[in-house]
Amino acid sequence: MKERSTFGSRFGAIAVVGGSAVGLGNIWKFPYVAGQNGGAAFVIIYVAISFLISIPVMLSEFSIGRHSRRNVLGAFRSITPQRGWQGVGWLSLIAAFVILSFYSVISGWSIEFIKESVVGGFAGRTPAEVQTFFTDFVSSGWRPVIYTLLFVALNCVIVGLGVEKGIERYSKILMPLLALLLVGLAVRSAFLSGFGQSVDFLFRPDWSKINGSVVVQALGQSFFSMSIGMGAMITYGSYLNSRENMFRIAATVAVTDVVIAVVAGLAIFPAVFTFGINPTSGPDLVFLTLPTLFAQIGGGYLISIVFFLLLLFAAITSSFSMLEVIVAYLVEEFDLTRFKANVVAFLSVGLLSSLCALSQVPGSKIRLFGSNLFDLFDYVSSNLMLPLGGLAIVIFVGWFMDRKIRRDQFTSYGTSGVAIYPFVVAMIKFVVPVAIIVMFLSLIKVI
Ligand code: TRP
Repeated sequence: MKERSTFGSRFGAIAVVGGSAVGLGNIWKFPYVAGQNGGAAFVIIYVAISFLISIPVMLSEFSIGRHSRRNVLGAFRSITPQRGWQGVGWLSLIAAFVILSFYSVISGWSIEFIKESVVGGFAGRTPAEVQTFFTDFVSSGWRPVIYTLLFVALNCVIVGLGVEKGIERYSKILMPLLALLLVGLAVRSAFLSGFGQSVDFLFRPDWSKINGSVVVQALGQSFFSMSIGMGAMITYGSYLNSRENMFRIAATVAVTDVVIAVVAGLAIFPAVFTFGINPTSGPDLVFLTLPTLFAQIGGGYLISIVFFLLLLFAAITSSFSMLEVIVAYLVEEFDLTRFKANVVAFLSVGLLSSLCALSQVPGSKIRLFGSNLFDLFDYVSSNLMLPLGGLAIVIFVGWFMDRKIRRDQFTSYGTSGVAIYPFVVAMIKFVVPVAIIVMFLSLIKVI
């Protein structure tokens, strides 16, 4: 067995876990999903789910990882003799590949958009011209593939440096920088005329917009945004110090994740409203709408560079957590060195994500179940794999995990969170599984 590392400090642990949570989910996805689902009412439900449902799931993942100190497969193998639970480990591993593949494509776009911002490519372009630029880029096929591979390589290099020297060190630098850039952007946006409208949109709820499907979307979005339901937090939990207060880490990360999503909304929507664009414009919001808008406001040159850099930082610290699931598995189960594990990961993730990028070329033959690989991976991961994975994990921790192990882990051997432990266990046993099942059934239209 190789020597296993733990995070060097509490700040390090928060930067790493927070770095995983804060990602494209907050900056690319949250604004458009909130936009499509009615704004403030969605935001309120999203916040409630993040605290009441997502935090217990995150704690459950941490407890499995910290007790076993293994990769996702080894973790279930060592914590229970019932072999069936290893299926959850397999699901994690598959989900890591699936999410990382489409995630790397969008992350690749952000590199291209940084380049285009720097060379001044967006200045003076009309919305139609930006649209053409974007469509040409995506449908050229090879250009997105190159940027995607560049991103995957960067990811593998940093993760290859190790948990402390790579993942933790870079998260500690990039996360504060990200927060700073985002606040700067939001402050600039506060001077745009659409700011008041954005505040209304994000904070004044219109409850008539809420229905079952909105709640399901909020759950999927919260799981994706908090990086839970696929074992990334089992792997990161395995590097948490035994005495670290898990509740504090999970709560800090949840607050950070929600705040950053909302601030991203405040940074993005003012431009949207100022120029009279419909906030429901969908996944293309930040890549199509924003560059044009940025190009037209004072300081737009700098703003668009800052924005796409921010997107890249957010994306890379999140990708670490998915890649680490794969790398920890390869290192521990196949006895590979970290270097070799990253080479294998680069080749496999690189191949899958290239296929994802190529499947977006119009007329592409790379399709599965009738839809392009990219959309399929995005849909299947948030709506199927994460809720199912999260469900299996809380059922395991609530009903099958040894009680003493669970208590020791949740309370860090009786040193923290003792008072709220019974409440959290009740949530994990009853409320969280029921909530996930109900939402899931309504998603597949059974109820
Ligand atoms: N949370 C990240 C985001 O918001 C994405 C992410 C990273 C993720 N690791 C994950 C999602 C694990 C699900 C599972 O962009």
